Amino acid sequence: MGVKTVFFVLALAVLSPFLYERRHFATQLYANAPGRLVEIQAFRSHRVKFADRVRSCEDVLLLEERGLAIVACDPGRERWNTVMGFFLPGPVTSAGLYVYDYREDGLADAKALKSIELADFPAGQDLHTLGMAYHQATSTLFVSNHAKAGSRIEMFKLDVGALTATHVRTILHPLVHAPNAIALIEGDEFYVTNDHYVLARQSMILAQMETFLAAPTGTVVHVKLGADGVQAKVVARVPFANGIEMLNSTTVAVASTSKSAVYLYTRSSDATLKYQSRFSVPFMPDNLSLSAGKLLIAGHPHLPSLRRFASSRHICNDAVELGGAAAEMKEYCSTAEATSWVSEWSETGGLRHLYAGTEYPTSATAVRDAKRGVGIVAGLYAKGIMVWRE
Ligand SMILES: *[C@@H]1O[C@H](CO)[C@@H](O)[C@H](O)[C@H]1NC(C)=O
Ligand SMILES: *[C@@H]1O[C@H](CO)[C@@H](O)[C@H](O)[C@H]1NC(C)=O
Repeated sequence: MGVKTVFFVLALAVLSPFLYERRHFATQLYANAPGRLVEIQAFRSHRVKFADRVRSCEDVLLLEERGLAIVACDPGRERWNTVMGFFLPGPVTSAGLYVYDYREDGLADAKALKSIELADFPAGQDLHTLGMAYHQATSTLFVSNHAKAGSRIEMFKLDVGALTATHVRTILHPLVHAPNAIALIEGDEFYVTNDHYVLARQSMILAQMETFLAAPTGTVVHVKLGADGVQAKVVARVPFANGIEMLNSTTVAVASTSKSAVYLYTRSSDATLKYQSRFSVPFMPDNLSLSAGKLLIAGHPHLPSLRRFASSRHICNDAVELGGAAAEMKEYCSTAEATSWVSEWSETGGLRHLYAGTEYPTSATAVRDAKRGVGIVAGLYAKGIMVWRE
């Protein structure tokens, strides 16, 4: 063997566990491309709603006893996305919060979706929403905010009847540097994921390397709020830690976007987490939610088309930008497709796929009111939200 061959064989030997580990990534690149992705629809009917009123609604949470959904939509994500690394110059529209009354299918759109007014919000227009969580007993809404001024978590007192969210407090902590999803334990205690160690706003290259190498550099942080400040500690390290949900009093699920897997942890009484097991999904899971004992997992089947779709929205969705765009971009805007995937999982039922397709693009979150048989999918860069009925 020549020297070159020896090096090649050695390099392959060193890399092969890694390549084997990352094979799902290559499979997804091929099988999940728009046009090739095999469509799945496991519900009776579904409809995209409010497409002309809201877009880029990554976050939904349900107030099931009232039949209401809180939806956060951030059209500014087209120009400012701290996770994917879009930092376009010029003004960026702030996010808005909405209440969607999903009880009756027939309710007129104008009545079904109402805007929530923010009160006493010191950051003004600098709201860029990621995960939200709601503490019912105190009507407190927690919102991850990737503000231009720095990532933080905002706390609001929510009055759903009056359609107002009054700002209470901003949570800032060095360990909460890239807050994504929040899972509440108590009104003053929660887990929050940080998707990356290096933020795209610090170094695009390093942040992308974390994603592609699936380095275990995302964190789950336990946060306890006291009168005298914020206590935080890292309780788990997960590659691209994204959605987080408590399955029950002892088990916490964390979506690892770059590993195409959901990690399960056992929680001790001091809130620390111990790795238990993980299962794979055929897409890059984004957010998690719990519905009648089942874990709903929404995510991104095909990264290249998501990137292209996401990074062109500031042109495709803006008449002025589109008018000045090259012919090739105009053509892309009129035909662009991106994929979505939603599955559910339980220990006894295993993994079951509910939706895969391009009709509603870029699914990030799925929630379901099992009693009413209504589900909602929110897409990172989609127009409107998708509502399904079972
Ligand atoms: C994830 O889903 C939960 C519902 O379980 C929701 O409260 C939250 O806003 C979502 N987070 C993100 C980052 O989309
Ligand atoms: C919590 O959920 C996990 C995963 O489904 C299960 O293995 C465990 O037995 C559950 N624990 C309790 C206390 O219900």
